[in-house]
Amino acid sequence: MRHYDTRNVRTELPCHNGAHSPPSSSCSIAGAEVEPLKLLNVLGVIQKSAEYLAKRGVDSPRLQAELILAHILSVPRLQLYLDYSRQLTTGEMDRARELVRRRGTREPLQHLLQSTSFCGFDIEVNRSVLVPRPETEILAEKAWQFLKKNFAGGGKVLDFGTGSGCIAIAIANHSPEAQILAIDISKEALQLARTNAEKNKVAEKITFLQSDRFTAIPPESKFDLIVSNPPYISKEEIPSLMPEVREFDPILALDGGDDGLIFYRYLVKEAALRLNDGGKLMMEFGDGQSLTLQHLFGKDGWKVDSVLEDYTGRSRVLVASRR
Ligand SMILES: C[S@@+](CC[C@H](N)C(=O)[O-])C[C@H]1O[C@@H](n2cnc3c(N)ncnc32)[C@H](O)[C@@H]1O
Repeated sequence: MRHYDTRNVRTELPCHNGAHSPPSSSCSIAGAEVEPLKLLNVLGVIQKSAEYLAKRGVDSPRLQAELILAHILSVPRLQLYLDYSRQLTTGEMDRARELVRRRGTREPLQHLLQSTSFCGFDIEVNRSVLVPRPETEILAEKAWQFLKKNFAGGGKVLDFGTGSGCIAIAIANHSPEAQILAIDISKEALQLARTNAEKNKVAEKITFLQSDRFTAIPPESKFDLIVSNPPYISKEEIPSLMPEVREFDPILALDGGDDGLIFYRYLVKEAALRLNDGGKLMMEFGDGQSLTLQHLFGKDGWKVDSVLEDYTGRSRVLVASRR
């Protein structure tokens, strides 16, 4: 599934300053007021921060601590190893405390850094959009390869549920002649997607449209490619998502209805009416949904062309065309 697991969330004791603290130790990194401010060197900050994050159930705590510190010091992470004994300034310590405290509440690193990389493009993120996931890069890549091969980098494309705009932006960069319509129900997501498109210099190639499903798309519009990473978590699973996902990704981006398949059922019918001859539908899906989706599309006039695996070997993307 999209980055989550079913681990229990730890019970945490808040420090008296409001920051969360491990039961008996100090809050020397994340709770500035608890101890007299001690200036640490790079290694000290990494060690204390990693300890703090580990106690709060954060995955790869040392890596996370290093990434936070590298961000604060504006250096590549590996540079930290060469600067272990460099003393942090008071301002840098304050910033480190604040970001490590926030990461300890399970706020995703990408939110702290306010951006992430998707297919090599810098994508700004906030609470209105799903943080783009590495596995979605497979979908974007398959999309631009299809356009290159069949439409010489052009073609009409619909990105359904564009969120941060990551897929549309990657496609626009790799298929410069493509005309892309990127839709989302969320006005806030579209605002950020537009900003991301501007920053990546593809704004003029993408039309952003607020639309609940396909309702705002002109009836005569048809596409050579429909891509989508729709919400696909079942309602039942949402409470067991990792806090980073459950509490910080928008529910609109997660909730795929009672069985997680609501948007695929919609696409089975509606995408069929919106594809040009020779067109393709490419969709990301969640763990355990592959066979159900192949069946769903197979019995309703679609041919499943391929199912692609992500970097971890899980089936992740379905490519289909009309029979
Ligand atoms: C899983 S996120 C994918 C975001 C982005 N495409 C990505 O891959 O990172 C799904 C997106 O679908 C949007 N969405 C949810 N319901 C929708 C609806 N009824 N109509 C259009 N978009 C919808 C959400 O707002 C969210 O941005």
